[in-house]
Amino acid sequence: MSHHKELVEVLKTLVADLYHVQLKTQNVHWNVTGPQFQSIHLMTETQYTEAFNSVDEVAELIRTLGERAPGSFSEYAELTSIDDNQMFGFKAEDMLKELINSNKALLLTTEKAFEMAQKAEHEPSVGLLSAELSRLEKNIWMLNSSL
Ligand SMILES: [Fe+2]
Repeated sequence: MSHHKELVEVLKTLVADLYHVQLKTQNVHWNVTGPQFQSIHLMTETQYTEAFNSVDEVAELIRTLGERAPGSFSEYAELTSIDDNQMFGFKAEDMLKELINSNKALLLTTEKAFEMAQKAEHEPSVGLLSAELSRLEKNIWMLNSSL
């Protein structure tokens, strides 16, 4: 497989992972309870809004590379590397741990995509993914600090 093709494949997984983390972050935004409600409610709103913007940028990157961007839940279910834990609980600690794990999985996919973008020498991907790595590391730090 060419580097270009491999880059597109990992970007497709990244779109699915970003969408998954966006939804999971909204799940926490809606359902979290406890004394930290307000701070977690606001932090998750910032994080899912950023994920919403990122998923759009990565999907459009796939288009600029000449491929079709995945855009359905069935495709995402097949592509994603993130566990679909349904989080029936409402406890802040459990939810934060779940978000940390999911963001770490997302970070791993982003790192793979970043390495592949460098191999493919595709500068627009390198730039976008580098910014994504910073954003995710910040999110993981903030989630960890809330535990
Ligand atoms: Fe809201």
